[in-house]
Amino acid sequence: MRVLFVGTELSPFSKVGGLGDVMGSLPKALLQQGIDVRVVTPAWSGVMERLREGGYKVSTFPQKASASYAWQAADATVHRVDVDGAPVYFLESEYYAGEMYPWDLNSWTVRPFAIFAMQALDLKKVIGWAPDVYHCHDWTSSYLPCALAWHRKLRDQGQKSVLTMHNAAHQGMFYPGSFFDESGMDPSCFNAGGLEFYGQVSLLKGAIFTASALTTVSPRYAWEIQTYESTQALSGVLYSQRHKLSGILNGIDVDLWNPATDPLLPECYSASSLAGKATCRAELLKNTSFDPAYSGPIVVCVSRLVEQKGFDIVLPALKQVRALGAKFVFLGSGHRWIEDALRDVSASNSDSVCFFPGYSEPLAHLLYAGGDIYLMPSLFEPCGLSQMIAMRYGAVPVVREVGGLRDTVTDADVENGGNGFTFLTYDTQGMLWSLKRAIERFSNVKAWQKIRARGMAEDFSWDKSARLYGELYKKIL
Ligand code: ADP
Ligand code: GLC
Repeated sequence: MRVLFVGTELSPFSKVGGLGDVMGSLPKALLQQGIDVRVVTPAWSGVMERLREGGYKVSTFPQKASASYAWQAADATVHRVDVDGAPVYFLESEYYAGEMYPWDLNSWTVRPFAIFAMQALDLKKVIGWAPDVYHCHDWTSSYLPCALAWHRKLRDQGQKSVLTMHNAAHQGMFYPGSFFDESGMDPSCFNAGGLEFYGQVSLLKGAIFTASALTTVSPRYAWEIQTYESTQALSGVLYSQRHKLSGILNGIDVDLWNPATDPLLPECYSASSLAGKATCRAELLKNTSFDPAYSGPIVVCVSRLVEQKGFDIVLPALKQVRALGAKFVFLGSGHRWIEDALRDVSASNSDSVCFFPGYSEPLAHLLYAGGDIYLMPSLFEPCGLSQMIAMRYGAVPVVREVGGLRDTVTDADVENGGNGFTFLTYDTQGMLWSLKRAIERFSNVKAWQKIRARGMAEDFSWDKSARLYGELYKKIL
């Protein structure tokens, strides 16, 4: 069985969030199931340098992967790198030289995503290997299943496609403008049963109709997205396609995210030998302006700073931060208003709140390892990897019961005890109800150890879910 992963992020070369983690770790798990899986991804600006700096062996094909857009050839140089046993094809082209994701999507800024899908379809000619299944991810590679159905030159090739929705809030929508003239997509598909969605083009909607199977990244989110409260008008489309929709929980790369071997930590540790966690905590404190002798709970958060992650309910709580009995460390980048607010609150409470703006792998590892409590009060969360990483590193999650958070975290105060603290109502009081329980419980050493140990013992590997993907491919072939 031959499967080509088609996606626009790939950890560790071009990761923005969890999509990059999944693209970087699921193929490895599928290889172990005996599936011939390969990956194609754009070489966004900086990626070729990262490959060279990382000492990867890059081989470049003489032939280019072709596409055509607006009556012009749009070719890419194809570079092959083997990552953890899986061949990865990086497509280098002028179209991937700018920002990865445009703020404003229109018929002009959508070009890189259409061209990427067309080049991915042309790849078989360059590498002499044709997939049985194209496994696409999110709206950014949704053009591909649509092209297999509706592109004048590319349709009816016979291959199957799977679309995994990592975040149905991003639907690849724009006013058509010159899109149907330039993209090769047949204008007859601009209708309610096709690409059209309330007067705009929706690439995600098109792929929902055309993909052979649909998955999303947790069972709960698969259910939620069929409700109006979650995806509004798109819920009707998803409900109508529910016969081919399933929720398969993400895993994490348990080799990469392993406190027992993590080279980015000042000292490694495991569930049975936690001394190293105290060293990581001390190192984290050193990086803040907090009292180095502080012994209370440290609440950490590593996140894209976007509405989805619940900052509008966190920020009001931080106004009274000294009354909470904990210290907070945030790492993240994203919307300006959230960055500014975190900067302000940390400037006026520098003994209790620390904010590291930006994206940093080493700091992320230090926060997971040095933190006691991991805060993730998301408005919605398709799966969430951060809470799983946090549990593996012995930071107890405080999460909202939504999407994949609901599938992975159970409250410590229910019968038989859980691995974290949860709440349902999306407001500051709701979050504080759980956060305060976590902060109080921290001082009960025995109870805390039990909760932390449960989280550290969870199996967040890809094994089970990779088998489910394998079964899904078999079903559609
Ligand atoms: P999402 O994909 O919605 O951002 P996930 O929890 O699935 O959320 O995955 C987030 C991933 O991105 C995790 O691996 C997390 O550690 C990482 N991450 C998020 N923000 C940063 C940052 N500022 N620096 C380093 N890693 C980050
Ligand atoms: C998205 C979601 C996140 C999920 C990740 C990987 O970015 O927001 O919940 O874990 O994709 O599937």
